[in-house]
Formats: sequence, C-alpha cells, structure tokens
Amino acid sequence: MQIYLAPMEGVIDHHMRYLLNELGGIDLSVTEFIRVSEQAVPRRVFLRCCPELTPLSERVATTGSEYGSSKTTRVQLLGSKPDLIGRSARTAALLGASAIDLNFGCPAKIVNRNYGGARLLDETTLIHAIVKTTRQCVPATTLVTAKIRLGYEDRNSYLRNAVAIAEAGADELVVHARSKADGYNPPAYWRCIREIQARIDIPVIANGEIWTLEDYIDCREQSGCTSVMLGRGLLARPDLGLAIKAYQAGEDYRYLSWPQIAKLALQLLDLTRAGYPTKYAGNRIKQWLYYLSRSYPEAIILFELIKRSKDYDFIEHAIIQETLAA
Ligand SMILES: Cc1cc2nc3c(=O)[nH]c(=O)nc-3n(C[C@H](O)[C@H](O)[C@H](O)COP(=O)(O)O)c2cc1C
Repeated sequence: MQIYLAPMEGVIDHHMRYLLNELGGIDLSVTEFIRVSEQAVPRRVFLRCCPELTPLSERVATTGSEYGSSKTTRVQLLGSKPDLIGRSARTAALLGASAIDLNFGCPAKIVNRNYGGARLLDETTLIHAIVKTTRQCVPATTLVTAKIRLGYEDRNSYLRNAVAIAEAGADELVVHARSKADGYNPPAYWRCIREIQARIDIPVIANGEIWTLEDYIDCREQSGCTSVMLGRGLLARPDLGLAIKAYQAGEDYRYLSWPQIAKLALQLLDLTRAGYPTKYAGNRIKQWLYYLSRSYPEAIILFELIKRSKDYDFIEHAIIQETLAA
C-alpha cells in the first residue's frame, strides 16, 4: 500500500513536497505539470521545477539533492506532441528522474484549448502514441506512468484509455475518478476504477475526494485499490497519510494539533522566504491556509490576518501570535 502526494500546479511546489515528505506518510510525489508545447523542455526548466533532480556531477547522494529524493519524485509532463514529450522525458531521465508521469487530466481551459491535459481523453490513439514514444525514449529503468480522468464531457472513455495506456507500455496508472466536466465537484466515481483494475495488469492508483480516513476506507472498498493519491485532502490534513498508515497497521492515531500545524507553516515560510521574491511573499502559505481551514478553524482567522500582507516578518509574527492565542 502506497500513498502518493498528488501534483497540484501552483500549490504543491518543491518546498511543499519537502515539508510534507519530512512529516511522513507519503511514499511518492509528483511535480506540478511541466508543459511541452513548441519545443522539448530544456534541462534548466526541469531543475527549476524539480530541484530534487540534479546533474550527476552535483548529486549529493546517488538519489537526489538536498531538496529531496529523485527516487520518490516523479516528473510530470503535459502536452500533445509525442516526439517533443519523448525528448523532454529523456532529458528528465538523464537528470535522474526515476519516473515520468504523463498528464491526461488537466481541465484548465487554456491547456485544453492547446490540445493538452483532459482534452486528450477523447483521443485514445494520441494517448497511446504519447505513452509509447515516451517509453521508447527513456531507459528501461525509468518508469513511465500516466494520470487520467474518467472522460472529457462524460465518463465513458476510461476503459479504452486505460487499455491503450497499458498496451503502450506504461508501468502504472493513476485514475482521478471524475470527468473533466465534473471538475472538482463531489462525488468521485471510485467504482469505475474497479472496472479499470479488472481490464489491465499494471498497478492502478485511486485518486479523488479522499479527505478523511473514512473516505480512504470507502474508496478502497469501491475501487479495489489499496494505494491512493491524495491532493486537497492532504493539504487539509497534512498527516492524513500517517493516519491511513496507522490504520493499516492497526494502530491508533491522533491528528496534529493546531500548534503543530502552525510550526509547519513557519517552516514553509522559511523555505519560501529564500525561494520567492518579496512580491510573492506569503502566497503559498495563504493558499495552504485555504485548504487547512477545512480541518482547522484557526487557519481561517490566520488567513484573515495575513491576507493582504506581503511582508515575511509580519506573516511570521502573525503565525506565532495566532498559535499562542489558540
Ligand atoms: C489547484 C490544483 C492544481 C492541480 N494541478 C495538477 C497538476 O499539475 N497535474 C495533475 O495531474 N493534476 C493536478 N491537479 C489534480 C490533482 O492532482 C488531483 O487529481 C485532484 O485534485 C483530485 O484529487 P483530490 O480530490 O485528492 O484533491 C490539480 C488540482 C488542483 C485542485
């Protein structure tokens, strides 16, 4: 049973991956999608989006950099041109990426207009070509994985897409159990994943709408998957992975308290302070507070306090004050 941290563009960057991985309960992470449009993605873009990768000459250990392990971070590519995606995948693999994940689920209008993400769910032949070319372009030791939704306008293309992906040589498939038209609205149709499991031989990982341990248990029963990918649920409850693992081991688990969460927020602030210019100060923390507020009412109060601030010291002070007051 493995827990995957979902890719979330604009929300889960390498700082957040580092923080959540350090906390524990996560076995694998995936980068935010990296667009492949008119040319192959150059090395510098991979190193910026995924600093867990490093050129061989600079690698701290054999597996990654000080930002984390390239063995447990997959690089996600999004595009529609098989040859450019294949060449990009090869560059990432040479930088140490242990797996290339292909995005066939992004619902963003701009991405879909440019023939990428979920838009390809109606183009099974193209999906097959992208997976096959990627497989051919990277060494056999590099995994090729894919992430799909159940369909574009309706939930009808998941079986043919899943079969095409497996036949093209993918090693794993993550299924976000909704169509593009469903957006992020509940429910997630976990039962469809069970149908996919019955049709293909590669591991299938369930994703979508797992916010609590009870959701995990439900999803596991309906989908037949023990391994799951957690996105918003893990941002709302950063130790949800630990809770699920404790449950699997038959142990009791107590969720993190607000002061413990606030400590993590301070850590994130420190990490981002070095990584982002002042004009973006606090943006990542604010986004995270939005998700945290689902589980911690204190997060709403803190958000209100800092929402207009672009001053790292002010935000730090507010987090400390709010924690002391709790
Ligand atoms: C803000 C946001 C950004 C996302 N970015 C990506 C992305 O870059 N690549 C991807 O495959 N999925 C992306 N997703 C989808 C998630 O990975 C996940 O499939 C979806 O949120 C459902 O899982 P959840 O209910 O656990 O959040 C994004 C979702 C959100 C809300």
